Formats: sequence, C-alpha cells, structure tokens
Amino acid sequence: MKQITLPLVGFIACLIIKISSGWPTVNENNINVVSLNIDNANTGQNIPSTMHGAILETNINRDDDGGLYAELIYNRAFQEKGGSLDGWSSFGQGSIALNTSQPLSSALPVHLRYSLIENSTSPSGFRNGGFYGINIQVQNYTASFFYRSLGEAYVAGGQLSIGFSNSTGQMTYGLSTINVSIIPADNWFHFSFTIPVFNNTSSVKNVFFVEFPPGSKGDFEFNLVSCFPPTYKDRVNGARRDIAQAFADLKPGYVRLPGGNDLEGHTILERFIWNNTIDLLENRPGRRGTWTGYNTEGFGLIELLTFVEDIGAIPVLAVYAGYSLDGKAVPQDELQPYINEVINELDFLTASASNNSMGALRERLGRSEPFDIKYVEIGNEDFFAASSYSYRWPAFYNVLSQRYPNITFIATTTKSISSPPAVDDHDYQVPLFFIQNFRRYENIPRPSPKVLVGEFSVINDDDSQINNPFGAGRLDYPSIKSAVAESVYRIGFERNSDVIIGGCYAPVLQNIFNTQWTPNLIVFNDSSVVKSTSYLAQKMFGQNLGNIILNSTATNSSFTHQSVEKGQEGDGKLGNLYFVATKRTNDSMLILKLVNADQNDIYIRVQVQGTTLCCEGFMEILTAGPGVDPTTVQNTMVNPNAASIVRRPFWSVGGAFSITIPSWSIMVVTLPI
Ligand SMILES: *[C@@H]1O[C@H](CO)[C@@H](O)[C@H](O)[C@H]1NC(C)=O
Ligand SMILES: *[C@@H]1O[C@H](CO)[C@@H](O)[C@H](O)[C@H]1NC(C)=O
Ligand SMILES: *[C@@H]1O[C@H](CO)[C@@H](O)[C@H](O)[C@H]1NC(C)=O
Ligand SMILES: *[C@@H]1O[C@H](CO)[C@@H](O)[C@H](O)[C@H]1NC(C)=O
Ligand SMILES: *[C@@H]1O[C@H](CO)[C@@H](O)[C@H](O)[C@H]1NC(C)=O
Ligand SMILES: *[C@@H]1O[C@H](CO)[C@@H](O)[C@H](O)[C@H]1NC(C)=O
Ligand SMILES: *[C@@H]1O[C@H](CO)[C@@H](O)[C@H](O)[C@H]1NC(C)=O
Ligand SMILES: *[C@@H]1O[C@H](CO)[C@@H](O)[C@H](O)[C@H]1NC(C)=O
Ligand SMILES: *[C@@H]1O[C@H](CO)[C@@H](O)[C@H](O)[C@H]1NC(C)=O
Ligand SMILES: *[C@@H]1O[C@H](CO)[C@@H](O)[C@H](O)[C@H]1NC(C)=O
Ligand SMILES: *[C@@H]1O[C@H](CO)[C@@H](O)[C@H](O)[C@H]1NC(C)=O
Ligand SMILES: *[C@@H]1O[C@H](CO)[C@@H](O)[C@H](O)[C@H]1NC(C)=O
Repeated sequence: MKQITLPLVGFIACLIIKISSGWPTVNENNINVVSLNIDNANTGQNIPSTMHGAILETNINRDDDGGLYAELIYNRAFQEKGGSLDGWSSFGQGSIALNTSQPLSSALPVHLRYSLIENSTSPSGFRNGGFYGINIQVQNYTASFFYRSLGEAYVAGGQLSIGFSNSTGQMTYGLSTINVSIIPADNWFHFSFTIPVFNNTSSVKNVFFVEFPPGSKGDFEFNLVSCFPPTYKDRVNGARRDIAQAFADLKPGYVRLPGGNDLEGHTILERFIWNNTIDLLENRPGRRGTWTGYNTEGFGLIELLTFVEDIGAIPVLAVYAGYSLDGKAVPQDELQPYINEVINELDFLTASASNNSMGALRERLGRSEPFDIKYVEIGNEDFFAASSYSYRWPAFYNVLSQRYPNITFIATTTKSISSPPAVDDHDYQVPLFFIQNFRRYENIPRPSPKVLVGEFSVINDDDSQINNPFGAGRLDYPSIKSAVAESVYRIGFERNSDVIIGGCYAPVLQNIFNTQWTPNLIVFNDSSVVKSTSYLAQKMFGQNLGNIILNSTATNSSFTHQSVEKGQEGDGKLGNLYFVATKRTNDSMLILKLVNADQNDIYIRVQVQGTTLCCEGFMEILTAGPGVDPTTVQNTMVNPNAASIVRRPFWSVGGAFSITIPSWSIMVVTLPI
C-alpha cells in the first residue's frame, strides 16, 4: 500500500509488455468476465510428484526396438519373421544364408553365413538398411558383432571394412577396419569398435556394411551385428537421444513399464519374463512382439529402469499376473511359480546385494544400488479377465504386500476384487467425455483406493462418438481440442491429489513407419521427433507442478463467492472455464492452471489473498489461434509445428492481475507469491 512507485513501474511495464507483445487480443463483444479468488495459505492438500507421468507401452508402434532403443541395425540377430535375413542383402560377390550349426548361444540360435565360393575379385560383403533407414551424422558410432571364420576361409590382407554408405555403396560416410587375421578359425569372437563418420548426409536411405577385400574366400559367420550412435546420457546399450530428450522434457513424475499388453504377451510362454531381459545381449532370447515384429528385449529391465532414473522419474513397475492375450489364465493351483517369479524380480531390483542372491545378481550385472520401487502394478487391464483376477490378485497381493510393505500395489480393475490399495483406470474417449467427467474423482466416496489414471487420451474428436470412440473419426494425431479436453481431466487429477497418484496420456511413442495405434503423444521417424498438441499440453502440466493445492473460487455476474460450494459452479470450474490453483512452496510460486473449453475468450481478474508482492509472472499458452477450429490444428509429421507453446510475461500488483484466456486454450500461469 505504501510502496506506490513499484506498482506504478509494474503497471507501466505491464502495459508496455501488453502493448508491445500485441497479445492477447480481446474481442470485447465476445467475452465472459470471471473473477478468481485464490487463498495463499499453506494448508492445502499435497500433490505428489508423480502427478503427471508417462508410459512405455513397450513394443507398440516400434517404440523400443526401432525407436527409443538406439540400436540402428534391424534384425541384428536374425530373429525377425521366425528367423530370417529380413533387412540384409549381399553386394559384390558372395551370398548370405542362415545357419544354425554351433550357434553363438542358446538364446540366439540362428546366425548369418557369408560365403565366397571363389576368390573374390571386387569388394564384396553384406549390408543392413536399418529399421527404416539409418540417420548418419558426423559423430562416432559404436559397432560390434560376433564373428567366426570356418575352416580354411581367409580374408585377403586380414582386414574387414565396416562402415556406412549410401544404398548403392558408392558414397561412404564412415569407415572402420578390424584385423581378423589372428582370429582362430571356427571360434566365435566378439569385436567392438568405433565407426567415425566424416561426412554429412541428410538422407536416411543409408546402409551399414561389412566388406571383404578382393581376394577373400570361404565361409564367414556373424551374429548380433549391432551399431549405436551416441546415446542419451552416453549409456552403453542406451536410448536414442532425441526421443529420450522429448520424453524427459515432459518431466514425467513416473513411468509405467513394461507394457501394457506387452507385459502379458500373446501366450503365457510369450509373457514378459524379467530375467530373460537382464543378461548379456547374446543371452537374451527376446520374444515374438506383442504388437509388431520381434521384441529383442535389448532394452531390458535394467535399461528401462536406468532410463527412468536418467529422466528423473520413478517407475511404476508392472509385473506379470498370470494372464495372457490369448485369453488363457494360469489356474489358481498353478500360480505359485509365477508369484515366485515376481518375488525374484522385486528382490533383484530392491534387495541388498550383500545378503540376497537376487540382489547379488543385480550387482554382478553392474548395478549394486537397489532401484527405488515404490509402485508395482499387478497385471494389465484385467477388466478383460476379471473372472480369474478374482483369484489372481489376492494370490499375488497377499504374498507380495507382506514381503514388500513399503511398495504400493496397484490393481488393474476393481470389477472382481475388493478394496485394493490402488487401482489403474484407463480411458480412450472423445473430448466431451473428459470434460463431462471433470468431477469424476471428487465424486468417488472417500476413503477410496488410490487411483493411477494409467492410460487416457482423446482418440476421436467427434463428441457424438462418445458411445463408440473407436469407431469412425479415429484420430491420427491429437488436436488442440483433444489437448484441451485432456487438460480439463488433468486439472481434475490435481484437484483430487488426495486419491490420484498420477495420470498419463497413452501411448507415448509412434514410429511413423510402423504404427499399430493412433493417436500418440510423440511421433518420430529416423531423424525427427514431432511433439503433438497433447504432448505440449502434458509438458506444460509436468514442467509446472505445485506441491500443494490453494483454495480458489471463481465468480461472475451471476455467482458470488458466498454461493460457491464444494463441487459446485465456482469450485474448480465456472461455465467452460476449468482451473486449479497450486503452489510450489520451495520457491513460493503460484502455479495456476486454466483451461478454456468455450468457443469464446474468457477475461479473468485474479486476486491472490495473502500476498502483497508485486512482480512479474509468466503465462504459457497453447491454443489454435483466434477463430480457428481447434479440431483442425494438429502437429503432424508433415506439419510438425502447427501449434506451439507461447510464453508471455505479465505484471501482478499485490497479487492482482488480469488476463485473457483465449477460446479453446490451455494456460499455465506462474507467479511469485
Ligand atoms: C479450503 O476449502 C475447504 C472447503 O472447501 C475448507 O475446508 C478448508 O479449510 C479451506 N482451506 C483453507 C486453507 O482455507
Ligand atoms: C550349416 O552349417 C553346417 C556346418 O558348416 C553345414 O553342414 C550345413 O549344411 C549348414 N546348413 C545350411 C542350411 O546352410
Ligand atoms: C571420434 O573419436 C575419435 C577418437 O576417439 C576422436 O578423435 C574424434 O574427435 C571423435 N569424433 C567425434 C565427431 O566425436
Ligand atoms: C550414391 O552416391 C553416388 C556417389 O555420390 C551417387 O552417384 C549415387 O547416385 C548414390 N546412390 C543413391 C541411391 O543415392
Ligand atoms: C593384423 O594383426 C596381425 C597380428 O597382430 C599383424 O601381424 C598384422 O600386421 C595386422 N594387420 C594389419 C593390416 O594391421
Ligand atoms: C562429402 O560429401 C560431398 C558431397 O556429398 C563430397 O563432395 C565429398 O567428397 C565428401 N567428402 C568425403 C571426405 O568423402
Ligand atoms: C555436418 O552438418 C552439421 C549440421 O548441418 C554441420 O554443423 C557440420 O559442420 C557438418 N560437418 C561436416 C563435416 O560437413
Ligand atoms: C586366391 O587368392 C589367394 C591370395 O589372394 C591366392 O593365394 C590363391 O592362389 C587364389 N586362389 C585362386 C583359386 O585364385
Ligand atoms: C529365470 O528365473 C526362473 C525362475 O523364476 C528360472 O527357472 C530360469 O532359469 C531363469 N532364467 C534365466 C535366463 O536365468
Ligand atoms: C540385508 O542387508 C541390508 C543392507 O545391508 C540390511 O538392511 C538388511 O537388514 C539385511 N537383511 C537381512 C535379512 O539380513
Ligand atoms: C520401509 O521403509 C521404512 C522407512 O523408510 C524403512 O525403515 C524400512 O526398512 C523399509 N522396509 C523395507 C522392507 O524395505
Ligand atoms: C522425418 O520427419 C521430418 C519432420 O517431419 C521430415 O522433414 C523428414 O523428411 C522425414 N524424413 C523421412 C525420411 O521421412
């Protein structure tokens, strides 16, 4: 009240900013006016750090092999299509074939045999075109393979050349040589080496090649032919940098993995078997992909959990619960081995290395510190298998909760079981569904099991398809309208953080060349990553997370503060405006989330009670633009930047400020209070 100059400066600064930015423009005739009153008192309910999460629905849309997993070589161990040379071809003289005699390992029973019947007279060898091409940049690649020469076979000069070229081999971008002259015949030998790339190409129609000099002859065998670019956080056997970064930028509090459906597998034998995914790559058999191709499980349990740590999240670990996608459930009296399997897995991840054999195994594999496992989900979508979940859930839960008292176990349905500590809800729907269900989680009676909204997304922008969202109008990409509706739902999560553990759009990743499901949060090809509207909205929520809820009420000409009651107009919503006021107490920051699901702009006057500060705040906004139909704006492979987050400063005086929230928009306001 006394510091009159500062607010004046502030107002002037605010005016200048508003005028100079030329935004937001307000159509005065078309505007609703709302007053929002926020109480800055530190007594609100806590918001867990897990609130906005992610899922690695492994194998879907080639999201791990051919996606997040940085391996460039497709079919590196000849497992695709039931054992094949798919993706491989020979050049020059000689031929390639499969052989199974004296395999590298029982896990990888098939290898490639390259045969030169006559002395070669030109450079000859074989190639791999990558998953859908190979993105080559000027950097060092790490390549490796197992090699064996048979009998009298010889390599002229003793050296193989390995590198990258264009698809016809005439243009070489990177090259390395390895000396095989001293390798005894008929024995597998592991080579690991660097391929420096010295020339650029924007095309991804490139190949990885292994070349024998002229004058070579005989039979040579190869397996686990592998090549990585530099990975996220430089992890060996790690993640593709741009995809991993996009994942990390969501600032997910948790990542649920592995699966979805990939946890269950097509059959019980093809389920996720954790200890098939942890050893040396040559000892990982992989399995038939649940969604597509072959699942190498090269990005196995340790790689998955290390990635989750690297992006600053915690895992929600899904464990196999005795049901697979062919509809077969393990009978009740045969469940014990499957329960033991989970005990071994959880011991492996959490037990001390000094006095537990599974903990010791983890240490032998290079990880002595236990992983931080707070949430374990038992099964996947067992509302499809509720009749057997009625015995499977208690069988697993009763044993596991005894043994791991600090882990919260999450059920996948409450259809046939009672009072689990937590349950995972999934919804794929139209925008109207999520908007109409804004109060869903405040309407469930307390006390309630905790809720993970493990999968949700708008899959169809046509509200009339609410009873058949998988029918006509299924989206390829999320739109602004999709993102707005999802954000309304997400505001409901924050407001109900007494029960909500967190929620996540699903699925997250899509390789544009191998798609089983749309829409997705992130779509990529070999060289680019496209962030959808829903991605941008989730990122706004994930990057701006308060740790307590502040009480807030909205009023307008027809509602006064006195009339606002919990669960009624003015509490969390007013008309088509949805909001949640939160605070990040460590830096005393107001984080106000606003979603306008109205065809008109909304003008809002905010007053934060209990602060006298005058300071600059920021608003981030995602919208289609004035007069643009929000269903028509999508970030796609062809038009990756149709929508983007706009960030603007504003000035608040004594906790008071006014802003315009455009029609069909998502806004996050941050302000020191
Ligand atoms: C917030 O509002 C609720 C009722 O809506 C009330 O019980 C609670 O005391 C309020 N908290 C604060 C800090 O004002
Ligand atoms: C595989 O290798 C063995 C041993 O060299 C050979 O006898 C057999 O004919 C090969 N099989 C095929 C299918 O090439
Ligand atoms: C590749 O590795 C070599 C040898 O370690 C190093 O000299 C070179 O700078 C690296 N190149 C790139 C692009 O990092
Ligand atoms: C490969 O590079 C050579 C030399 O630049 C060029 O002549 C040839 O057309 C290229 N092949 C393809 C398929 O681009
Ligand atoms: C390959 O290694 C052998 C044994 O160490 C050596 O005698 C030979 O000179 C090497 N060849 C080349 C081309 O470096
Ligand atoms: C790099 O590529 C350009 C054209 O693509 C070519 O002219 C040049 O010779 C290449 N450089 C090397 C070192 O191969
Ligand atoms: C390759 O391309 C990048 C990005 O366009 C550029 O920064 C770099 O200098 C290029 N390197 C070479 C060797 O041409
Ligand atoms: C094949 O090449 C090797 C060495 O290059 C030579 O010793 C041998 O005589 C050649 N064999 C034939 C059949 O040309
Ligand atoms: C995995 O664990 C099971 C016991 O649950 C054991 O029978 C199996 O041999 C193990 N597999 C590997 C590859 O270690
Ligand atoms: C195993 O070791 C850990 C860490 O050293 C210790 O906390 C735990 O009590 C031990 N458990 C048993 C059963 O000895
Ligand atoms: C559970 O957590 C408590 C508190 O952090 C800890 O003291 C205890 O050792 C943990 N118990 C187990 C079985 O990990
Ligand atoms: C990959 O996507 C980017 C961005 O959408 C596009 O520019 C590029 O042409 C695509 N590459 C291929 C090989 O499709």
